[in-house]
Amino acid sequence: PRPGWSVDADVVVIGSGVAGLTVALRSAAAGARVVIVTKARLDAGSTRWAQGGIAAALDEGDTPAQHLDDTLVAGVGLCDEEAVRTLVTEGPDAVRRLMATGARFDADPATGEVQLTREGGHHRRRIVHAGGDATGAEVSRALVAAVRTADIRIIEHALVLDLLKDAAGRAAGVSLHVMGEGRHDGVGAVRARAVVLATGGMGQVFAATTNPAVSTGDGVALALRAGAEVSDLEFVQFHPTVLWLGPDAEGQLPLVSEAVRGEGAHLVDADGVRFMLGQHELAELAPRDIVAKGIMRRMRETGADHMFLDGRHFGAAMWAERFPTILAACRSHGIDPVTEPIPIAPAAHYASGGVRTDAHGRTTVPGLYACGEVACTGVHGANRLASNSLLEGLVFAERIAAAVAADETVPGEPVPADGPGEPLVAPEDRHTIQRIMTRGAGVLRSAAGLAEAADRLDAVRRAVHTDGKSAEPGTEAWEATNLLLVARVLVAAALRREETRGSHWREDRPDRDDDRWRRHLLVTLRPDRT
Ligand code: SIN
Repeated sequence: PRPGWSVDADVVVIGSGVAGLTVALRSAAAGARVVIVTKARLDAGSTRWAQGGIAAALDEGDTPAQHLDDTLVAGVGLCDEEAVRTLVTEGPDAVRRLMATGARFDADPATGEVQLTREGGHHRRRIVHAGGDATGAEVSRALVAAVRTADIRIIEHALVLDLLKDAAGRAAGVSLHVMGEGRHDGVGAVRARAVVLATGGMGQVFAATTNPAVSTGDGVALALRAGAEVSDLEFVQFHPTVLWLGPDAEGQLPLVSEAVRGEGAHLVDADGVRFMLGQHELAELAPRDIVAKGIMRRMRETGADHMFLDGRHFGAAMWAERFPTILAACRSHGIDPVTEPIPIAPAAHYASGGVRTDAHGRTTVPGLYACGEVACTGVHGANRLASNSLLEGLVFAERIAAAVAADETVPGEPVPADGPGEPLVAPEDRHTIQRIMTRGAGVLRSAAGLAEAADRLDAVRRAVHTDGKSAEPGTEAWEATNLLLVARVLVAAALRREETRGSHWREDRPDRDDDRWRRHLLVTLRPDRT
């Protein structure tokens, strides 16, 4: 549909987590006219759910070089070392600038120094946190407050589906579908010389995830439709310790932060055996993929559908002070971590891949940038190191703001999109897609399971295309359409990568194959193949 109205800006930022809000603030400070578009409310994305914190070499004795080493080990040979060097070197200052923007982190009352915790894969204490285990909520609060007082236009409840391009193929803005009271109130456009995707992740492509309902891969789907290159989608990180609420629990499930293990909680089976001992020198604090695999193996060996995290020895005072969010979430489900081990199982958590970018967040479409979880900057490789995600959002947001300021190319008139778009997938298909993905492309994968998932996803697509009936336009139908597209690309990549590496675990190809697979799978869609 043709936009009925249009707004002019220099930069349009899609999404309002740590990445989007930081790009917006830094761009506005540099004098750009900035519009933020977000499909729900400003604070609805994944950032506010982050618990553990932000990793940065802030401790005396810690160095960016040690942070680099831990990040490269976790990424199992697929990190872009230069991108990681940028992340860890610029990280400490980016955290300090976030503090100057208003974020308050937990500090030692005696010295006033920020307190640092540990998480999986880190050989040192280097993670700042806020409110004990409510780091993301504090980051979101501080950035939302700063954006609201800056000269930035905010459009909430508006879903961006399409990139507008000029005749030369340069990004020229976006079209927005505005939802008032849940209804489709029409199509508008923001015309801008820079479009920044900061739409977060795609955890909702699986049935059980730590991600909120809005994390539906919208940015990756938009980028694919716009012809941008996407990379590493097969590397979905499954968080090892998500509160287990029964075999049929679905949707967003409560996270039990790695910081709980960082402070000394143990993973145990139903008999109280610490099964991670002897599996890795860091035991429960091994990189996340190794712990998730350790849990899955033990579940298999013992025929259980969950394991336990035992932090009873912390005592009531420490639980209340250090982990108030987790304590409250557990208790609201009738579990008391002070007196009993917490039932946990892995669930989808983070997309290590995404829209391919260079060191300044530029995608392969001129004028289109990507930042945060939606992006694949190369810092995570096959498995993101804990608490590097908020950090990546901060560091690369600053770089994108600088790159946008330095490039004053003005795009030509947007070329109207020709013909009707894809038929929209019905909102009810969301569940079908999620179940197909959890069954066939979850923690444990195989060629047969992935091929079956691909067939079943194709059947969902065929049904929509064959009967030609597009669902009513609306956020839920667009989300289901985006989920189907990213699910299909993810499964195709997971099928092609015939090895086990990082968070991609192929039972039928249990070994890492550096000769064939120390490389990235890059995907660009042909315009007629969405
Ligand atoms: C956690 O608190 O365990 C999550 C940290 C992360 O995903 O980086």
